[in-house]
Amino acid sequence: MASPEVTHEQPALAAEGGALPRHVAIIMDGNGRWATMRGLSRTEGHKMGVEAVRRIVRYVGDLGIGTLTLFSFSAENWRRPPDEVRYLMGLLKLFIRRDLADLHARNVCIRVVGDRSSMPADILKLLEDAEVVTQANTSLTLVIAFNYGARQEIVQTARRLAARVAAGEIHANDIDAELFARNLDTAGLPDPDLVIRTSGEMRISNFLLWQAAYAEFVFAPVCWPDFDEAEFDRALNEFKRRDRRFGGLVARAGG
Ligand code: IPE
Ligand code: IPE
Ligand code: MG
Repeated sequence: MASPEVTHEQPALAAEGGALPRHVAIIMDGNGRWATMRGLSRTEGHKMGVEAVRRIVRYVGDLGIGTLTLFSFSAENWRRPPDEVRYLMGLLKLFIRRDLADLHARNVCIRVVGDRSSMPADILKLLEDAEVVTQANTSLTLVIAFNYGARQEIVQTARRLAARVAAGEIHANDIDAELFARNLDTAGLPDPDLVIRTSGEMRISNFLLWQAAYAEFVFAPVCWPDFDEAEFDRALNEFKRRDRRFGGLVARAGG
């Protein structure tokens, strides 16, 4: 897994052998169903989802995995009832306010991906402050995908590069996959090796379309509030059994 722009130490081997993913991205799905199945309101599911976030962030940091991306709110989630959207916004604010100091103390670097131009101002400020406070931290990079849609991200990048061509700064032929990637929200981050989606749904829902080109996908059968260390280990072990070829013929470890 030699890549010149790697910012984090890659642990050589996990406990059970096999290379660890450098970057795990999670579609945290099933909060609503978790609650409904228990006769609770959907908001109770979201609340319990935050506990799972705390658990998994801690665990991923302890494992020494360099980057964790959490899909917390999609660009399409605004379509939900206003009450639920308001609740989710409140939860994100609460999470940052309550957990920032602890994350900082644990050397976690926070990065935000998503459309900042259409974020509520108070959330944008909280998230950007969290980025500034933790920017020099070097253990886990916690990427919060908020107001994120991969198609929108790709369109924005195309626009940005087109404007640079129009301004004469670059030539159209200068645009290649590397330059494109450097202009995405995820610039500088390694591509996800493993994408986990909870709740049994098997779709990507506009998440990291570009970056997940060669990711391994694991679909966990449990809803997000029930996702724990054992479930994470299960996904990791499944990842280690995969034969990644990257279009070639000989299996090799990582990308
Ligand atoms: C994931 O759980 C949280 C967000 C998308 C914000 P859901 O709210 O999608 O839960 P289900 O899929 O309706 O069960
Ligand atoms: C994807 O889940 C978005 C997040 C987990 C934040 P959704 O629940 O919104 O996805 P769909 O609507 O089932 O595809
Ligand atoms: Mg869902």
